[in-house]
Amino acid sequence: MKRQWRWILILATVALFLTGWTAFSSDQETPAAAADPGGEKTSLGARTAIIPTLAWVIGSYDAAGRPNLMTSSWAGVCASRPAAVMIGLRPATYTHGNIMARKAFTVNIGGADLARYAAYVGRVSGRTTDKFTATGLTPVKSAVVDAPYVREFPLVVECKVTQTVEAGTHTLFIGEIVDVKADPAILNADGVPVVEQLQPFVYSPGSGAFYGIGPALGKVADLAATIAADGP
Ligand SMILES: Cc1cc2nc3c(=O)[nH]c(=O)nc-3n(C[C@H](O)[C@H](O)[C@H](O)COP(=O)(O)O)c2cc1C
Repeated sequence: MKRQWRWILILATVALFLTGWTAFSSDQETPAAAADPGGEKTSLGARTAIIPTLAWVIGSYDAAGRPNLMTSSWAGVCASRPAAVMIGLRPATYTHGNIMARKAFTVNIGGADLARYAAYVGRVSGRTTDKFTATGLTPVKSAVVDAPYVREFPLVVECKVTQTVEAGTHTLFIGEIVDVKADPAILNADGVPVVEQLQPFVYSPGSGAFYGIGPALGKVADLAATIAADGP
């Protein structure tokens, strides 16, 4: 009996040692926080801790021709000629399959008053819910690409897919811009969309919140000129 206990004790010690060792070594394997040569910044490691991101509402058709919407923050403009955007979608989204099949999507950009729609379509899947019916938003069939856009959103970008890039967890869809449609209310006298009139919002993945955009800080040319004029 005594001998049995001694063995149990030895095995328990070995097990504890091994678990401790494994936990330690896997700690070492997580993306390492790198030292800051400047000595001031906290390293956050290899993460998407980036703010702000956009909050685009992506329109697509499914195989049955039903219009769907989802929100994408892994997104941006990626070329000027041909004018193009990119969106990064997980294969698990319904939209991913839709765009793979139809080779087209729309980007719908709204003002702060439409933020709640961007929130909703980013939390519910078109696999189970008709998001146009649920939100009361109106799908409009694009005349130039095989995708719907949202009538209530003031800025709409119609895109045809020219490339897909597998970028890890997400597929990048590169969409060549075929047309941009804007509500005249968001355009200035030169016919350009302006922040003051659109009142767009951005997303902070860390806090999980949308934010409005603050006042203009100045024209780039004017800000740059202050360095030349005033020095460091
Ligand atoms: C603000 C916000 C940004 C998002 N960005 C992305 C993104 O860039 N890529 C992605 O795959 N999912 C993103 N999502 C999650 C999708 O929008 C969500 O999974 C959605 O339900 C997918 O809809 P679907 O299945 O109808 O395509 C985001 C969600 C929110 C709320």
